[in-house]
Amino acid sequence: MLTSRRRLLSGVLLGSTAALLPIGARAASVRVETLLSQMTLPEKAGQLSCFNDEIRPVGAVFNPVIDPRGGDAMLADIRAGRIGMLFNGYGVAGARRAQEAALTSRLRIPLAFAADVLHGCRTIFPIPLAEAAAFDPDLSRRAARAVAVETTAGGIHWTFAPMVDVARDQRWGRVAEGAGEDVLLNQLLAAARVEGFQGPDLTRADALLATPKHFVGYGAVRGGMEYAAVDMSGAELRETFLPPFTAAFAAGAGATMASFTDFGGVPVSANRPLLTDMLRGELRFDGVCVSDYDADRELIAHGVAADEADAARLAILAGIDMSMQSGLFVRHLPALVAEGRVPLGAVDQAVRRVLTLKERLGLFDDPFRSIDRRAERRETGSVAIKQVAREVATRSIVLLRNDGGLLPLPRAGKRIALIGPFGADRANLNGPWSFAGDAGDGIDIATGLRAILDDPALLVVEAGSAIGESLPGGIERALVAARGADIVLLAIGEGADMSGEGNSRTDIIVPAAQQALAEAVAAVGKPIVVLLRHGRALALTGAVRDAPALLATWFLGEQTGPAIADILFGKVEPTGRLPVSFPIASGQQPWSYDRRSTGRPAPDSDPMTPGRSHWRDAPDQALYPFGSGMGYTRFALSALRLPGTVAAGAAVPISVLVRNIGTRTGSALIRLDVHDRVASRTRPIRQMKAFARVTLAAGAEARVALTIVGDALALIASDGTRQIEPGRFDCWISAGDETEIGGSFEVR
Ligand code: GLC
Repeated sequence: MLTSRRRLLSGVLLGSTAALLPIGARAASVRVETLLSQMTLPEKAGQLSCFNDEIRPVGAVFNPVIDPRGGDAMLADIRAGRIGMLFNGYGVAGARRAQEAALTSRLRIPLAFAADVLHGCRTIFPIPLAEAAAFDPDLSRRAARAVAVETTAGGIHWTFAPMVDVARDQRWGRVAEGAGEDVLLNQLLAAARVEGFQGPDLTRADALLATPKHFVGYGAVRGGMEYAAVDMSGAELRETFLPPFTAAFAAGAGATMASFTDFGGVPVSANRPLLTDMLRGELRFDGVCVSDYDADRELIAHGVAADEADAARLAILAGIDMSMQSGLFVRHLPALVAEGRVPLGAVDQAVRRVLTLKERLGLFDDPFRSIDRRAERRETGSVAIKQVAREVATRSIVLLRNDGGLLPLPRAGKRIALIGPFGADRANLNGPWSFAGDAGDGIDIATGLRAILDDPALLVVEAGSAIGESLPGGIERALVAARGADIVLLAIGEGADMSGEGNSRTDIIVPAAQQALAEAVAAVGKPIVVLLRHGRALALTGAVRDAPALLATWFLGEQTGPAIADILFGKVEPTGRLPVSFPIASGQQPWSYDRRSTGRPAPDSDPMTPGRSHWRDAPDQALYPFGSGMGYTRFALSALRLPGTVAAGAAVPISVLVRNIGTRTGSALIRLDVHDRVASRTRPIRQMKAFARVTLAAGAEARVALTIVGDALALIASDGTRQIEPGRFDCWISAGDETEIGGSFEVR
């Protein structure tokens, strides 16, 4: 086939030019080098500029369009070669119009189309944090693949996802977009999501280029406040925040996005040590680095750029390849190069990367790749994608409490009162970043329950309160419903607009009006099951904390109702585990299970021991720590096998016998944590290094093997290098609830 011969040819010639190219810029093809040699400086600046798509705009995106120009002016700019990529547009028809315009430009360089597709395009999945609760990289890979098929069918080549920022401060609204507080889970899901989005061959029409973001450390914003400064040691950066990026790049991610934030006094958008020395030198990443939204212009507000030209200069010299929405590159790079303030080589290097990305996507061979009305009709909202969305939703739900085996509920014979603002709500199913999703498509909790109940007439639904304020007569009506019921389901928590970007909260509690409703309903004395809706861990209090049954249900997207019903009535067993710790109080944030011991650790037996590490009003503990969660059965662990000693860097094989001691088939998440007893730097009191899932029938048992990969025991030594230090390591194996069995091994 022509393209394969051409690709072969360009491959053959690669060797001759490879040595000439700067570090980290994959040797460009003959086609790219030829194009580059033909481009004017304004055309190069245009290729390095991307803008909100005003030709086929989609509704629910976070940022208001800065400097809107309208669709016709945008088409004119495309024809003039002033735009390299559009983002957050949706639909094949509009994509065709934009691409046709690009093909009338002087050099006919096709556009790339990107979008913020984090957890679904048109069919909205559970938020990424919810999906992380499944602790299942294969599920995450399949979910990303299903989303990629629907997204590319809508005329999009590139997603600004996965978000891989480790997040230990639940006040930060963007914890919703990632995989939570644990490094290993973030690493595994970052790689799985990249593989799922991109698929086996980036030139395929259903391949969606991935953009692990936001490089790097955004999750550590001071005080959990959105856009706040970040400052951390090199060791913390390399041990906690960098690994998910390294895993995503190793999985073949084609792009990355720089973080908005000030990093140690130099905003990432102007931080050459991060964007060039680390990203290109140390990590050998050769994809495109796109700025965040208007982030280059924000260097002025940060106080490191005097004006827009200065901001553009700082950004391109630091290693930003593509400027988002500000237009600074297209307006200022030609003059900056002409004045000698920016070397032409810096511009060419960025253009090489952008053109190479388009070549890797197959856009030069087929500019109308992923612009196919038949695919759009076939793949949008398909039965297949809805099935995956439902599977992810049921796997995301975490059962945190089930006193007296209240759950699962019987499908008949019980009068049920569904109380709370989310009982029959569809406006808050999707959570933040729900791109082209239509809230009206979702299936609410009440509808999901009615579909599974033998007699739907036994279900009464009362909002009882609004999300943020009380309803006139709401509590009274809710109390009537509660008094007439055998079981109360309390559907409460956060509204979709309380989560995601720009939604940091100082107090991560259930809104007061809903708490008041919960207290009043609890006083009626009927058994209560809390169905919590949330985009982060919450600090639960009072009747919500004390309810006999509690399900963490996140924002589950379109399939919310069916998934909750499946779990509530035992059609599917709850298998989720918390990817973020639920604290006792907001004031404990930031907090994570793998914290340091301090020099005065409080004993677990008396966590408030005077003079030891705790607050006056809270212990150094969580209400539900990372990994919490249970099913409808229980497991016993025994016969732990582990080596006495292992060589540094060797894999550590560990196994345990797991028995299902309950009455129902169940799926256990077996998790292995380790603690390095003595090291040259302080170490986490425990940290997950492996996990595996096993499904067992009642009474059955199986030996589950877990392996700690050699490098997982390394630390960043004081000289900045990764070291595996000899010494004794404690290890614990748990099954999610309190069951835990421990031992230790020696690393020589
Ligand atoms: C937003 C986010 C980023 C997103 C971009 C484009 O502000 O920080 O994650 O991809 O702008 O919408």
